[in-house]
Amino acid sequence: MKRILTIKAEEGMVVAGDVYTDNNHLVISRGTVLNRDIIERLKYYSIFDFFVEEDKSTKISSYNQDDLERLIFQEYHIETGSYYQKIKESAEFEVFEKLFWESVTNIKECINDVVTKNNDVKVEVLLDSVKKITDDFKPDVSLFDMLHCIEGYDDLTYIHSVNVALICRIIGVWMGYPEDDCDILTICGLLHDIGKVMIPVEVITKPGRLTATEYALVQTHTIHGYNILKNMELDERIKLAALQHHERCDGKGYPSKYRYNDIDPFSRIVSIADVYDAMTSNRIYRKGICPFEVISIFEENIDAYDPKVLFVFLEKIANSYVNTDVILNDDMEGKIVMINKYALGRPGVLVGGAYVDLAHQGNMTITALK
Ligand SMILES: [Fe+2]
Repeated sequence: MKRILTIKAEEGMVVAGDVYTDNNHLVISRGTVLNRDIIERLKYYSIFDFFVEEDKSTKISSYNQDDLERLIFQEYHIETGSYYQKIKESAEFEVFEKLFWESVTNIKECINDVVTKNNDVKVEVLLDSVKKITDDFKPDVSLFDMLHCIEGYDDLTYIHSVNVALICRIIGVWMGYPEDDCDILTICGLLHDIGKVMIPVEVITKPGRLTATEYALVQTHTIHGYNILKNMELDERIKLAALQHHERCDGKGYPSKYRYNDIDPFSRIVSIADVYDAMTSNRIYRKGICPFEVISIFEENIDAYDPKVLFVFLEKIANSYVNTDVILNDDMEGKIVMINKYALGRPGVLVGGAYVDLAHQGNMTITALK
């Protein structure tokens, strides 16, 4: 068998061993023959690499560990000369980063006080630090691009919480919610994972696969989160977001396998922001996925999310990248010229002067912003 990167997976390859997420969720079994849907599923679950049978992988290159590391470096190298590098070097990002880390410090201190001193959540302090960011920067996709550029190696739960809070707030603005609701949504995002403080840190930070027992333990962060918040003077929607942000509208979430109507509308928004951030953020062990791949993954899993929110969210993101230069999966470069509202992840692209409608080119995808 040979190890390959998921981005190099091709239809027809045979998987040589069961593939699990870090949380021990079986994604595909040994012997599975890859097709487009299965490859997308691997990307959806952020599977970075896996093993395929050698005789079925002859048409592609395979990599040993050194090659993998070199490739990862090259991918970062490509990114450092690109779209996101320009953002990282901007004066705007310098201001953003400072405000962002202040918010991370605030949420960390607040949660520590709640847990160790039994303090109530200081809602105003938390809200102010996030609002400083959205007051200084337009609540649009350029903020998502800056979030993508934040590189943190510690305090990942707190970084994720600030990211989700900002994404929730932007969704609230895009949905036309009044300011008060946008504030509640922001706090929902900040506190959605508060229950993780009750999970042993060695389980939360464990590299690689969790055992079934460990994964069951991690899932209890939703119930712990609700229990921490339930007696505080907080809007009920904030408490429910801690409990329900892993529920899915198709009933495949946890802890209660609730469906659309049973899930609080704000929890449905947090679930979209949570998954979007998990897929697009750079982590120490993988690069965030390109926004257009993320849009396609959401479109393929539309039953899991609130369709009204999801459509507004994805359409805004896709439209913001019109006129952006991109790299396609065959390494060709192009420019996005038209968004197809029925296939938001597969826009019309100009490639070498020719118009290519990705919605009708099943084997072509956008893999990076240039
Ligand atoms: Fe969570």
